Amino acid sequence: MKILVLGSGAREHAIITGLLREEPRPSVVCAPGNAGIAADVPVVALDPNDPVAVTDYAVLHSVELVVIGPEAPLVAGVADALRARGVAVFGPDRAAAALEGSKTFAKRIMDEAGVPTGRAVCAATLVEAETALDEFGAPYVVKADGLAAGKGVLVTEDRPAALAHATFWLEHGSVLIEEFLDGPEISLFLLSDGQNVLPLSPAQDYKRALDNDAGPNTGGMGAYSPLPWLDAAFGSENEFIDEIIETVALPTVRQLDAEGTPFVGLLYCGLIVTNAGIRVIEFNARFGDPETQVVLPRLVTPLSGLLFAAATGVLGALPRPEFSADVAVTVVLASENYPETPLVGREITGLDAALAVHGVTIAHAATRLVDGTLVSTGGRVLSVVAVGDSFALARARAYEALGQITLAGAHFRTDIAARVA
Ligand code: AMP
Ligand code: GLY
Repeated sequence: MKILVLGSGAREHAIITGLLREEPRPSVVCAPGNAGIAADVPVVALDPNDPVAVTDYAVLHSVELVVIGPEAPLVAGVADALRARGVAVFGPDRAAAALEGSKTFAKRIMDEAGVPTGRAVCAATLVEAETALDEFGAPYVVKADGLAAGKGVLVTEDRPAALAHATFWLEHGSVLIEEFLDGPEISLFLLSDGQNVLPLSPAQDYKRALDNDAGPNTGGMGAYSPLPWLDAAFGSENEFIDEIIETVALPTVRQLDAEGTPFVGLLYCGLIVTNAGIRVIEFNARFGDPETQVVLPRLVTPLSGLLFAAATGVLGALPRPEFSADVAVTVVLASENYPETPLVGREITGLDAALAVHGVTIAHAATRLVDGTLVSTGGRVLSVVAVGDSFALARARAYEALGQITLAGAHFRTDIAARVA
């Protein structure tokens, strides 16, 4: 099968690594990719956000499946354009991608579908925002309505800071004031063909920049999968997954289908386990980063078959994907000053030594080869992934590999999966 993957991050590198593990190997190309991806598959200098350019390429090169990694091409209508030309695509149309792109749209869908989520008020003015903040009380949760590259959400005890955040984002549209939800977070990915869903194994993401969940929110500094503590909370991973399918995923997919905007692609359920039960914090319309880096290495079922079945509407005929009993841990190596203003263009060395550590792979997030030298090009630079038969082993491997890598000023969290039994 000929597959085009759109994107240039560690998530896309992990997807490609997953595809290349299959026998027979599918033929994979990536646009635009990064240095790590380019070492594995051909990369194409194509703007992934340009619906016409992507569709022309796919048709001209007889691409059988396009896998859209990031949200930007979805919001730009790349999936719509591909479908209109008869190209199978894993990723929702623009209208369904609003589940991620607009938090008020997501809230309305959840309301209609009866999906449990935090109470929220959509404010269009500062007065409305203030009233809602006082109604919910501290800690305050303020969210930009649209895509905000991970910077749209503020959770704070500080009322003036909450108001300042609301003021800033009100200039770009409306804001959502939400009740504070307390509990562990879970990322559950479900493949959807518009009517049916198939779950992947859950993961947990570390969103804060520093150890012990200190520091600002980031795109994600590390992750692990599976979540052994689900057994105590829900009986088993499968019982947890069954509950999410019945109460969250299927109602959401059915609601979108009933509205004429079927969701074909990856339904990312960002969940929080509160004392009052599970609540949806957010939906994303794509694989999560860095969770993908720990979910896909454990996937035993061939990935391309799953993505193609979702893209072509036949997911209902497939059994649930299988996962290995191994665990996976990923630790993100981030540039100096990430997430504020990352300092980039610096040399990265030591990857060969890192890769020599047993069970380790490296997903490149923001790298480029300049005259034979590997340099950083963004905030999150590498995602070091390790598998093992225990979290202690996978962690030890990931951190041993990280110790081999040099990048001036870089930082990473030292507590990823530290408290997982
Ligand atoms: P979101 O972009 O909606 O996923 O929010 C980013 C992060 O902010 C989440 O992963 C949570 O850690 C936190 N967050 C979002 N909404 C809430 C909430 N209602 N209560 C507590 N924390 C939240
Ligand atoms: N890891 C969070 C996200 O992908 O949105």
